Amino acid sequence: MQLTTEQLKEKIKEYKKRLNVTIVAHFYQRDEVFEIADITGDSLELAIKTRDDDSEFVLFCGVGFMGQSVKVLSPNKRVVMPKAACCAMATMIDGMQFDASVKVLNDAGIPNENILPITYINSNADVKAKVGEMGGMVCTSSNAKKIITTALKEGKKILFVPDRCLGQNIANQMGLKSCVIGDGTNPADADIICYNGFCSVHQLFTMDDINFYRKKYPGILIAVHPECDPEICNAADFVGSTSQLINYIKKLPEDQKVAVGTEFNLVNRLRPKNTFVLSSTKPECPTMNETTLKDVYDVLKSIDEGEPLNEIEVDEKTQKWAKIALERMLAL
Ligand code: 13P
Ligand code: SF4
Repeated sequence: MQLTTEQLKEKIKEYKKRLNVTIVAHFYQRDEVFEIADITGDSLELAIKTRDDDSEFVLFCGVGFMGQSVKVLSPNKRVVMPKAACCAMATMIDGMQFDASVKVLNDAGIPNENILPITYINSNADVKAKVGEMGGMVCTSSNAKKIITTALKEGKKILFVPDRCLGQNIANQMGLKSCVIGDGTNPADADIICYNGFCSVHQLFTMDDINFYRKKYPGILIAVHPECDPEICNAADFVGSTSQLINYIKKLPEDQKVAVGTEFNLVNRLRPKNTFVLSSTKPECPTMNETTLKDVYDVLKSIDEGEPLNEIEVDEKTQKWAKIALERMLAL
């Protein structure tokens, strides 16, 4: 028999009382999932709050790299995911492609000792481990500027993977020179050399969208995530991580209109009025949106039955170096 939404919510509540489990959800999760979570936040907040949580199980509603980061930081925790969902951007680079990127810099006359790699948290543990082994660290969309500012003090070239947009946006904000591997620029001429990865959801937002809203509602504010194209971020009134966007919009006067360039579940939850999705196409992260209440219920049931579904495992060497890269970030 198929359970109704209300029945699923009741059953989940019962499991939560009985099992030693914390449910974690990113802002891009469907409302039904977001509402039953114990911990919510942007990538950085989720990494910190789950590390400090002492439940035996973390049930992570998000994408693979997020659950993996919890496992890397706290290998004794058991991390399960309702869906083995992966972030499309994170799949754009693996360990071998990271090595090939380092070689591009080497071929341009930049030896390894002059390269400081930084990986956006939206990458898999093997890439974080490579970065950790080379003395680099992780950043998120909320702390990228701070991490890059610190990294630059070492006087090295920064290899930024995988999101070219975040790398270029931070470089623009800081007045630094950036390039994207393969764009014809000599890496030796740039301060930040970006890998050519991107988020297809955030590529949806265009200058036409911004112009449309500014024309339709003079005085409207445009707020976007830094995974958007540099052209979009330069034209926006505010650029920030998911949490930063939420805090910015919460503080606006009720009658201030705002168009937001990020995933639609987050935007629709913000304010009842005067908030628009900055696109005529629905900006949906397909993998984030895959997780349903039923999936959460199924995983809880599997924990209860002693055979947890979709449990995350990271091998020892990868875990060690990826943890170092994540902890360098957290120490800052
Ligand atoms: P935040 O760290 O801002 O939550 O971003 C995560 C993400 O995947 C955005 O697409
Ligand atoms: Fe990855 Fe983009 Fe989805 Fe964020 S919105 S999880 S970057 S695919």
